[in-house]
Amino acid sequence: MVSDKKINVLMCGTGEYTTGWTGSGASQSDKKIGVVALTLFDLRRLGKVDWLGMVGVNGGKFPAIREHLDKNIGGVYKDMNLTFEEYPKEGKVDPEAYKAAIDELKPGDAVIIFTPDSTHFPIALYAIERGLHVLITKPAVQKLEHHNVLIEAAKKQGVVCWVEHHKRYDPTYSDAKARVSTLGEFNFFNAWMAQPKSQLETFKAWAGKDSDISYYLSSHHVDICCWILQDIAIPTRVVASAAAGIATSQAFQCVPNTEDTITLMIDFQSLKSPHHKGTAISTASWTAPLKSGVHTSQHWYYMGEKGDLAIDQAHRGYEVTNDDTGKAWVNPFYMKYSPSMTGHFDGQRGYGYISIEKFIDASRSVNEGQAKPEEFDGHGFPTIQNTVLTTAILHAGRISLDEKRPVNIKRDGDKWILE
Ligand SMILES: NC(=O)c1ccc[n+]([C@@H]2O[C@H](COP(=O)([O-])OP(=O)(O)OC[C@H]3O[C@@H](n4cnc5c(N)ncnc54)[C@H](O)[C@@H]3O)[C@@H](O)[C@H]2O)c1
Repeated sequence: MVSDKKINVLMCGTGEYTTGWTGSGASQSDKKIGVVALTLFDLRRLGKVDWLGMVGVNGGKFPAIREHLDKNIGGVYKDMNLTFEEYPKEGKVDPEAYKAAIDELKPGDAVIIFTPDSTHFPIALYAIERGLHVLITKPAVQKLEHHNVLIEAAKKQGVVCWVEHHKRYDPTYSDAKARVSTLGEFNFFNAWMAQPKSQLETFKAWAGKDSDISYYLSSHHVDICCWILQDIAIPTRVVASAAAGIATSQAFQCVPNTEDTITLMIDFQSLKSPHHKGTAISTASWTAPLKSGVHTSQHWYYMGEKGDLAIDQAHRGYEVTNDDTGKAWVNPFYMKYSPSMTGHFDGQRGYGYISIEKFIDASRSVNEGQAKPEEFDGHGFPTIQNTVLTTAILHAGRISLDEKRPVNIKRDGDKWILE
């Protein structure tokens, strides 16, 4: 049961995923009006959310963001209240404005973090230590040690801390998890996820400096792999390999050492049989061809002892052709932006929306004393506890590339460590 009491939510990050507004104007990707703010405005319309705040670094962006939201959300869907408090105020620039914004919240309020990868850890820890529930975008953090700190901090404070791994709510993926559990021992997993090389322009500020394409895209399918193997096998070793030369070329001029395509090869050990071992491969690229008809190409294959399955998440059997832009494969199962028959927002069944709503519901039920945060670990939600192996693999992949060696994943007491 979910409480009737509404929750206050602070959004950290004002960029593409939050508002659809990027430094260079409205996003040209498949998230032109974002996901987080739109979902929270709709959850406020439906009575689950009350006060909303938004914190970025440059307060000077808010007039343009408000205009963008007024036009594309207020002007399109009925009954949306788009009010929110902004930080930093008065157009100031302050990379630590999140502290002032969080300091104004009270325990039991929630914080949703969609900021550059390297900032997730300090913002999440600051919020958790003040008794706030936290939802962090993927990759949760870049280092396994940081993930372990967040697990401990959330436990100590008794707050909900989840990672926004929305693919766990894709009906195809959750159906696949159920079927995998009937296929016996794990043998082989192979995932591909890629975005067009124009993304190197969009991500220029951080690509290769602050994070890499494996953290950015492989985080999705590494998490799905760990999730479906939760009771079947555990990762023991990672070796990474990278293709390079396009991101650093004259055309894109990313910093030296920026990889184009990163492949992680992950060894798994069966939990039940000492004889059964499996291999998972996860490849991510931001140098895929332009104009391929999808913003993100993504598919994976799973083979178990008694059968296999394959999912192409990019091609859902729904093609749209437009004189100006050509053919595109679209996916309204993630975010459906077309309004309902009554003119309201109609995307409540999209797994991008559900992912945020589940976190809001969990936080509200903890506030009302109807649930304890640790109960969600047992239900397979992407809690900070349930996502530790995802971070272990991504971090091991980064070390493997930097130090040109395999990296082992081990259990040390009640913690996971890398060697
Ligand atoms: N864009 C997507 O499709 C997508 C999808 C899933 C997850 N993500 C994740 O979301 C995060 C942000 O992605 P985005 O695409 O929205 O990026 P973006 O570059 O469009 O926006 C980043 C935002 O973070 C803010 N920011 C930076 N440092 C901050 C700080 N110290 N305090 C507060 N705000 C700060 C910036 O002001 C900016 O508004 C990344 O971790 C990314 O992996 C993005």
